[in-house]
Amino acid sequence: MLRAAGAELRVALSPHASDFVAPLALQAVSGHAARQSLFSPAEEAAMDHIALARWADALLYAPVSAAGLARLAQGLAEDLPGAIVLASRAPLFLAPAMNTAMWEHPATQRNLRQLAADGAQILEPGSGSLACGETGSGRLMELEQIVDRLRLALAPHPWLGWRVLVTAGPTWEAWDPVRGLSNRASGRQGYALAQAAAERGARVTLVSGPTCLPCPTGVERIAVTSAQEMLQVCQGLVQRENIDLLIANAAVADHRPATILTHKQPKQELPAQLALAANPDIVKTLHEDPQAPRRILAFAAETHADEERAVAKLRAKGADFAALNDLRGGAMGTEENAIVLVSPRQRWVLPRQPKLDLARALLHHLDSEIGESD
Ligand code: C5P
Repeated sequence: MLRAAGAELRVALSPHASDFVAPLALQAVSGHAARQSLFSPAEEAAMDHIALARWADALLYAPVSAAGLARLAQGLAEDLPGAIVLASRAPLFLAPAMNTAMWEHPATQRNLRQLAADGAQILEPGSGSLACGETGSGRLMELEQIVDRLRLALAPHPWLGWRVLVTAGPTWEAWDPVRGLSNRASGRQGYALAQAAAERGARVTLVSGPTCLPCPTGVERIAVTSAQEMLQVCQGLVQRENIDLLIANAAVADHRPATILTHKQPKQELPAQLALAANPDIVKTLHEDPQAPRRILAFAAETHADEERAVAKLRAKGADFAALNDLRGGAMGTEENAIVLVSPRQRWVLPRQPKLDLARALLHHLDSEIGESD
């Protein structure tokens, strides 16, 4: 997975690693012979462990056992990983995996605190079924999450110091405790944009309507339900902090039921017509705020592509950049998306691709535009 993410890899084994994984398998997936011993003349001749330690931009020790943590916390350099860690100035990521009792043991926790104080980044284990047959905490962090954490730390950070606010998902406009108005947005594109902004080094807050999605690594999420609540939370953030970029991706319901019933109405008593009230426009309101975000990227989902009209509509709300989804391609609730991005000076056609790839490409284009116009 790291290679697929663009990394070049060298693998070094801890003393007992080859009892679990064949070195040849690690060679096949990494593309290089896996180093197995600190004192092998042949291996040292090919690339000595000091050169290997200097070569790396980052060290990932995964999985690291309770014993491995104890050795590292002591600075012991008598095995290959220990020697490499001491000889390297690169950031160190530790992904512990062990039995629950070993994980919770005061000695392990003390070693972890020491290693964190020494600057290591601890990739906290999750809970689940463990190799020892028990269920509990101590399970290696999910692999996708490990890759995300490394990517966050190592990717170039052109947006370092930026404050980014992303709205995502649908809103739910309650009518009674069970019924309400909403739409088919899944939140996937907004969540992908939040992740891509965090990868660029920004501090990202994701204000999300109801979705089933996990919060992207490195992103702060605030869950909301209705459009009014989404506006209130966003206004609070905009007024408290200098937002550099608002990415308004939420599919905000345009209307809400005019009155909210506190009890579920029996079927026979439902009115034939539902009175609606217009929701506030979140982008427009934030744009008109004295503390308005420095830049705004807004989305328009159209079932009939009239680009000029859609761009004019988003500009009227205060958007600097317009991202147009063509709903005929089925953007809502799907895994892939295609977008036309329009800035005051340029237009880009981003072809159908997974939503995260699309988010990265889109933010990459904003990069030059925002940099230039400041
Ligand atoms: O007018 P339309 O709903 O197509 O505009 C879409 C854009 O406006 C999106 O960026 C959406 O997040 C935002 N919007 C909003 N508040 C609303 C409706 C839409 O901020 N009440």
